[in-house]
Amino acid sequence: MTDRYEVEVLLRPPVELSSAIVALSCAGIVLAAPHTLMMTPSVALFSAGCLSGVGVWRGRQAWRVIQYQRHLKRSPRYVMSSSQVPVSQSVLFLGRGFRWNQTHTERLYAARDKRAERYLQPSAIKQWVRRKEIEWEHTPLLRTIMRWTALDSPLNPVRPPPAIGGDAVIHGVGIRGETNATMPLSDRVGHMVVIARTRHGKTRLAEVLTTQDIRRGNNCVIVLDPKGDADYLKRIYVEAQKAGRQLIIFHLGYPELSARYNAIGSFSRITEVATRIASQLPGEGEASAFKEFAWQFINVIAVALVAMGETPDYLKIRRYITDIDALLILYGRHWLAEHGPEDWQDELGELQDSINIKSLPRIDQGKDPEEQKGMLRAARKEPGNYTEGVVLSDNLQCLFRNVPPPLALALAMTEKHEKQQRAEIMKSQHCSELEAVFTVADGLGSTK
Ligand SMILES: Nc1ncnc2c1ncn2[C@@H]1O[C@H](COP(=O)(O)OP(=O)(O)OP(=O)(O)O)[C@@H](O)[C@H]1O
Ligand SMILES: [Mg+2]
Repeated sequence: MTDRYEVEVLLRPPVELSSAIVALSCAGIVLAAPHTLMMTPSVALFSAGCLSGVGVWRGRQAWRVIQYQRHLKRSPRYVMSSSQVPVSQSVLFLGRGFRWNQTHTERLYAARDKRAERYLQPSAIKQWVRRKEIEWEHTPLLRTIMRWTALDSPLNPVRPPPAIGGDAVIHGVGIRGETNATMPLSDRVGHMVVIARTRHGKTRLAEVLTTQDIRRGNNCVIVLDPKGDADYLKRIYVEAQKAGRQLIIFHLGYPELSARYNAIGSFSRITEVATRIASQLPGEGEASAFKEFAWQFINVIAVALVAMGETPDYLKIRRYITDIDALLILYGRHWLAEHGPEDWQDELGELQDSINIKSLPRIDQGKDPEEQKGMLRAARKEPGNYTEGVVLSDNLQCLFRNVPPPLALALAMTEKHEKQQRAEIMKSQHCSELEAVFTVADGLGSTK
């Protein structure tokens, strides 16, 4: 009867229960004492049958109301192991669900009504137990009792709601119509958005979908999880293992676990290597000269590596930035092997034997290398004014400053802005680069 009327009222006492009890009791009396009611046995049997039918019918209606109210408070337990997740080549299993229609909206509206509150609240005794579980958490004996009351078991009359988040009412309003919800795999080329508040099961749904994708095979499953849910990763790992599929993890926080990506390993032009690395350096103001220097230095290393048939990577570049000698030796050997005479190794051996270590400049002997490096670093170039250099010999170590005539200075101008200045002169005067250099030199001379 409950679902025949236009206005359905399910949040009320199960009044059908009274008529069911009355009908069944009457059936019992008729069966037990037909003579008292002046009935022949056959009439009594027939009457008892009819009364039982009415009783069962009304009882079922009452049971539906009771079940409905119970499911609004707590969804029935629905558990499946990963191997029970259905995997199909035509549909994607989403979970249990029902098609939402007007009836569900009306039921939800009725459930949100203030008068329906008592059907959604846990009983007073359950509320009391939940309060005491927190209060007695540190009290020795009571703590043990409360551990039992907190058990999620059907045998526990005051069991707590399952810690699955979400709102049981949403499921409860249509629980009788629930079935396996699926979507056609062909629809997956489109996008899908799942919207829910935090801890309402979005990632658990993603687990179910990913499990199917991994087990379906013939595909490449890519999971991006910016939040980094550990349970989700575990699930992916387990499913990949079970399906015998390869799992590649990319995580910047755990380089020892993560797949590595060589960002400078592939390029169409060799200069891209230096550009990609140097682009991370600041390039404004005075830093631009340093950036350009770094670019050239890295480019030299990258060119040498590629010439030797090696793939550039960050570690190699770092190693040779701090120890360019090693690269020079390797490259020298490589070059000699390709372009040198056949017996270059013998010649090299003879040369090495003939070197008198004492006749070498101190830097080559490895004496005071730090001091010498410091001097080399101290050398500066002031465009338009002077160029500094370093002399390192057996008897002399000095920093010298060369103030050449304007033309020599103009020829030595290789900075970016200096090149740009020449380009502008070439453009405005329609002249060659050499002529532009003369113009610059004239300018320098006149400012002296
Ligand atoms: N269907 C479910 N079955 C079992 N447990 C669930 C289910 N849905 C949610 N839970 C429980 O709720 C917790 C939160 O679920 P989940 O991580 O999927 O939420 P979320 O919507 O992804 O949250 P967030 O927005 O914080 O990432 C889970 O750790 C799990 O304990
Ligand atoms: Mg999540």
